[in-house]
Amino acid sequence: MASETRSGATRDYTLTVVDDYALLSALAADAVSETLAQTPGAALTLPTGDTPLGMYSELVRRIDAGELDFSQAQFFCLDDYLGSTPEDEASLTRWLKTVFLDPARVPEANVHYVPTAAEDPVAAAAGYDREIAHFGGLELAVVGLGPNGHIGFNEPGSGPDDPTRIVDLQPATRAQSAAYWDGKADIPAQAMTIGLGTILQAKRIVLIVSGEGKAEIVHASLEGPETTDVPGSFLRRAGDRLEVILDQGAASKLEM
Ligand code: F6R
Repeated sequence: MASETRSGATRDYTLTVVDDYALLSALAADAVSETLAQTPGAALTLPTGDTPLGMYSELVRRIDAGELDFSQAQFFCLDDYLGSTPEDEASLTRWLKTVFLDPARVPEANVHYVPTAAEDPVAAAAGYDREIAHFGGLELAVVGLGPNGHIGFNEPGSGPDDPTRIVDLQPATRAQSAAYWDGKADIPAQAMTIGLGTILQAKRIVLIVSGEGKAEIVHASLEGPETTDVPGSFLRRAGDRLEVILDQGAASKLEM
């Protein structure tokens, strides 16, 4: 396994390009471990999707081996479909429970669900940001990158000051999401996501991207202009609080 940290004259953030997915997953897990070693009660958010699967297996392994204590962490789910509950088969929260929260035995009291089924979801979304603030703000946000440049469900059109809120999902995002359930799930047209503004306030942001299929959007996010067409392009505003971990495929269209 090998990794190369690239330095760039115009870059404040850290860019690490790894040879394989196992190393990408281990480095992302290291960010979680380091955060909780420093601040055991840290508020953090971690993504769902294909990219973080390896990170979650590694985190569960570390917890089982007694190398990582997750018992005090405040886990804030990143996003979910509007109206969904953890009982719904195609809910991201349920996905998280299956893949990580249950196997890692994260105490239920420390898990903060995106209030997608609240009676007043607009007010509840604002309340979710207040809850994050109550726990001192996000110590760590690990995020993936959507094929359309979305971060969480901050779809194109989202800006760097956006709070946690309800968003319309693009058809491509709904299709991408349905694929997590073999294309059989009926994905709602709207979702609730931690806002890009909330993510950008995190003390440490780790972006993980794998595969050549994302190379173009990685290039647009890291080397293109800042634009609401590519929400990932705003991550660079975090400066040295941002760490980008890519595999060779995802990095293959970077110019530096
Ligand atoms: C999911 C999420 C999304 C994904 C992104 C990449 O909670 O927030 O932004 O991180 O769509 O998904 P994968 O990893 O499946 O390519």
